[in-house]
Amino acid sequence: MNSLTLLGSARKKGNTATALGWVEDALTSMGHKVVRVYLHGKELNGCMGCGQCKQVTDTPGCVQKDDIPDILEQMVAADLILFASPLYFWGPSAQIKAVIDRTYSLYTRYHETNHSSLLEGRREAFLMTGAGGWDTNAEGAFTAFKRMQKPHKTFYAGDLFIGNCTTPADMPPSVKEKSLAFAQQITS
Ligand SMILES: Cc1cc2nc3c(=O)[nH]c(=O)nc-3n(C[C@H](O)[C@H](O)[C@H](O)COP(=O)(O)O)c2cc1C
Repeated sequence: MNSLTLLGSARKKGNTATALGWVEDALTSMGHKVVRVYLHGKELNGCMGCGQCKQVTDTPGCVQKDDIPDILEQMVAADLILFASPLYFWGPSAQIKAVIDRTYSLYTRYHETNHSSLLEGRREAFLMTGAGGWDTNAEGAFTAFKRMQKPHKTFYAGDLFIGNCTTPADMPPSVKEKSLAFAQQITS
């Protein structure tokens, strides 16, 4: 399986990157190809809502010429897309959110019978780390991620929330075990 991972934390050795690394290692050892995109530092503009992308169905069609069209092409070419983000104010980081908003250019005629998506049939999965717990904190972000599968016409492969994070060194061994199980879940 061709896996694309999108790291939405700026911290290359932070909690999210560490857990993502465990998932990626597991995917690789299972024989899957893994390409990671480190989003921080790239030019990631927000969606303008201009709707020009809706005029085309066979390409992303976004008129903005920043770094996101290339990421969208990589998403289309992948079998599995894994979004990895710290939880920031009960949602994903700005880097991940910018990419998600720009996926607006990947589908057309949502809510109509001939709704189509360049992501149709792909798997999408979500990994988040946060300082707090799940309740009244992380659940809203995952609800939004799940809802995204409908316009994307994708398969929700799974999610992992790693709460109560302080530093990578303080993550208990159970987190690594959960990351390995998660890699299996999202590919099967
Ligand atoms: C701007 C900002 C907002 C945050 N908001 C939340 C939050 O809403 N809920 C939470 O549990 N943790 C929150 N945190 C903590 C981070 O999600 C947590 O430390 C995370 O594991 C950091 O990941 P990283 O090491 O990959 O950057 C926030 C941290 C920052 C810097």
